[in-house]
Amino acid sequence: MHHFRYSGSDLHCESVDLAAVAKLYGTPTYVYSAATIADNVTRLQRGLAGLDAQICYAMKANSNIAVLRHFANLGCGFDLVSGGELRRVLVAGAEVKRSVFAGVGKTEAEIKLALENEIFSFHVESEPELVRINHVAGTLGVKAPIAIRINPDVDAHTHAKITTGKSDNKFGIPLKYAAAAYEAAAKYPNIHVKGVQMHIGSQLTDVSPFVEAVEKVAPFAAELKAKFGISYFSVGGGIGIVYRDALASGPQSWWDAQPEGKRPITPEAYGAALVPLLQPLGLKILLEPGRFMVGNAGVLVSRVEHLKRGAGKNFLIVDAAMNDLVRPAMYESFHEIVPLRRDTSRRALVADVVGPICESGDCFAKDRQLQEVGEGELIAFLSAGAYGYAMASRYNSRTMAAEVLVQGSKFELINSRESFEHLVAGEKVPAFLK
Ligand code: LLP
Repeated sequence: MHHFRYSGSDLHCESVDLAAVAKLYGTPTYVYSAATIADNVTRLQRGLAGLDAQICYAMKANSNIAVLRHFANLGCGFDLVSGGELRRVLVAGAEVKRSVFAGVGKTEAEIKLALENEIFSFHVESEPELVRINHVAGTLGVKAPIAIRINPDVDAHTHAKITTGKSDNKFGIPLKYAAAAYEAAAKYPNIHVKGVQMHIGSQLTDVSPFVEAVEKVAPFAAELKAKFGISYFSVGGGIGIVYRDALASGPQSWWDAQPEGKRPITPEAYGAALVPLLQPLGLKILLEPGRFMVGNAGVLVSRVEHLKRGAGKNFLIVDAAMNDLVRPAMYESFHEIVPLRRDTSRRALVADVVGPICESGDCFAKDRQLQEVGEGELIAFLSAGAYGYAMASRYNSRTMAAEVLVQGSKFELINSRESFEHLVAGEKVPAFLK
């Protein structure tokens, strides 16, 4: 569900014409819908009714400080994975107290920063990490709240690069060693055993792996509550979104029309499956959704540079590239591509949609059917709000794109397009080369 629609023939984000945004701020530009984010938060909260639930938005998906502030205003905490992310939470004027710190390689400096800002809990991935957290907490004279991440060995049936809950992934501690890990954790003088955590993967389109994982971990969570008095169970993130037919995916009728087994997870279905399993535990339940919250709330607007007609192949060359949106190159992922101005009288065009970067991997879509568009016209990559700008780079010395937030008929630049001067600001020629 999202707020990107054609109004007449022009693609709008809420009440804002995307062409007007492109005219003002240029391209490529990410545009996010504040209403979509708010709706996603509300729907997930409603789906979890009956639980004492706390949403910790996985800010790795989109960490713009305006987006973070919006989440904080909506009552969310954050799932963060670095000192940089923690500092973004502070800059956004949001609370670290409602946030959890995940990741397999937290440094001493990061642990210290989190403790100084009263992090809700650390999600611990190994015994050596516990030793380190205990040590840093000791130097500060505090007790560090922790949960151990359990790897439930469940197949999430998603892309190999984003599956995390199998025993051959680097994440968490296998369930069979978890009891011993908790016994050890409880003995550290500067550790407060506060909860238990799991996360099995990203872009799950079926609730059954979540159910399987919760069924495996819930009895253990109950034991931990009895033994150590833990107060929360984090079930991680991973709820998938619609990438195909993303524009049509608003109404319930679209969802009903999908074949059985191909329907994306709704927050209602997620809640209906998990609430009965979690409620009896009597624990606070944390959720760490990233993609579900922001994925369909963002598009990447780009301008067509050329339509190159090759031998048996057309190439639509646009001004966005793999450095701006790496997901298709990295995960072979699908993003819907639509014109900003829809014109049904135009012919169809089948083309590879590519960026200007000098490698063949800089391809957003192969043999994609589109409305014919030409030089200077605008297109949008849909469902780009999660892991879009957040994974962007400066490859080919391309500067970082601009970001804009829309709310109703208002829109504002929330990150200006990077300048060349900023791009090279930290670089210099050493004296021995002069
Ligand atoms: N919690 C933990 C511990 C995680 O590792 C992740 C994501 C999340 C929550 C949020 O997962 P989500 O709700 O967004 O599925 N760059 C990839 C996705 C990587 C996800 C990594 N971990 C992509 O573009 O598909």
